[in-house]
Amino acid sequence: MSTAPVTVVGIGADGWPGLAPGSRAALREAEVVIGGPRQLELLPEDCTGERVAWPSPLRPAVPGLLAAHAGRRVCVLASGDPMFFGIGRTLVDVLGDAAGLRVLPHPSSVSYACARLGWPLDDTEVVSLVGRPLSSLVAALHPGRRLLVLSAGAGTPAEVAALLAARGFGPSRLTLLEQLGGPRERRVEGPAEGWPHPPGDALNVLAVECRAADGTPRLPLTPGLPDESFEHDGQLTKRHVRAVTLATLAPAPGELLWDVGGGSGSIGVEWMRAHRSCRAVAVERDPVRAGRIARNAEALGVPALRVVTGAAPAALAGLPTPDAVFVGGGLTAPGLLEACWEALPAGGRLVANTVTLESEALLTGWYRRHGGELTRLAVARAVPVGGFTGWRQAMPVTQWSVTKPRGPVAEPVQPVDPVQGELQP
Ligand SMILES: C[S@@+](CC[C@H](N)C(=O)[O-])C[C@H]1O[C@@H](n2cnc3c(N)ncnc32)[C@H](O)[C@@H]1O
Repeated sequence: MSTAPVTVVGIGADGWPGLAPGSRAALREAEVVIGGPRQLELLPEDCTGERVAWPSPLRPAVPGLLAAHAGRRVCVLASGDPMFFGIGRTLVDVLGDAAGLRVLPHPSSVSYACARLGWPLDDTEVVSLVGRPLSSLVAALHPGRRLLVLSAGAGTPAEVAALLAARGFGPSRLTLLEQLGGPRERRVEGPAEGWPHPPGDALNVLAVECRAADGTPRLPLTPGLPDESFEHDGQLTKRHVRAVTLATLAPAPGELLWDVGGGSGSIGVEWMRAHRSCRAVAVERDPVRAGRIARNAEALGVPALRVVTGAAPAALAGLPTPDAVFVGGGLTAPGLLEACWEALPAGGRLVANTVTLESEALLTGWYRRHGGELTRLAVARAVPVGGFTGWRQAMPVTQWSVTKPRGPVAEPVQPVDPVQGELQP
């Protein structure tokens, strides 16, 4: 790999005239300049370095290109701020760290957008739809919030407008900002519902002021979405138990969950909604339910949830190592709990829920051997009883939760006799 530092130069729609003196000097001194064809055309003739256009797809070509020019003064051109949804991230990944990189940023498209709109960037949600499904936007829709959407192309604004209208956010105000910072900068506005503008320039950012239509369901940030938020056939961890289950699973940014026996996918979906970097794999043996999990993930803004159709434990083979495992179905399948426990790294969490006595007996055995917490969750709801009101009790859920020990194995939990005190094992 290259030993000389690679200089990454951010360049905007204003091209060469908009570059800072340091960026111009780096480009003039470069022996090789790598960039997109459109970016390379922005350079003047006195940038005499060899010009190399990125091939498509770009990512797999990066290591080879850097190796081919090792030891030369290399500049890589990036659009706007190289470290913001840009080539800078790819280069750090490929080089292993930032030590061999010198990054000279230019204002990003979102800096320009906030400057034009008078929006504080620190209080504006940014969603990139470049290489990501449109439905990723859904998790960011909250009344009163401001979003900047990085478009994938000229067609994105109309697609976003249609999605907003379909999801009850038709009254939202949209501002389309094209070619920000360049001589062809253009701005048009309109409501999401009935968005009136034909496709324009492919280089655009869409600003969204979220406004919900009357009756649009609220989708809050905390786990425990209303049961009606999910398409389901009854195989759904209900709201109150789901909220407790997510709290016990305790998602943190970047973590991966296995949702084993995914049912409708509600646990995996709410895990992923906890933070945009959270990932989940739902394993479901029933193909109809597996399809439903994918639809729920899409509808609730986490289309990256991975669905594996197959019966655990066999279907768990080869999955990436989880940070937490939830078992919502299949507890009595031979070897299932063993496979989940085996896959979990030290410090990983396992939570299993059941309503059957057979599975409860199994969980009690695991609780004795590995410790953790055994909890019984009994939720009752008030319902009409004739002209009065009474409690309707849902089936109680037994929950075992445990953190896999990092050091020596935990002392087994001794069964306790309420009269005699501690029993002998
Ligand atoms: C009670 S539901 C889980 C509900 C789910 N947590 C939710 O909120 O939608 C249990 C699910 O586990 C699935 N299941 C049972 N045994 C399984 C196995 N061995 N492998 C994969 N899925 C299994 C069933 O098909 C069912 O959909």
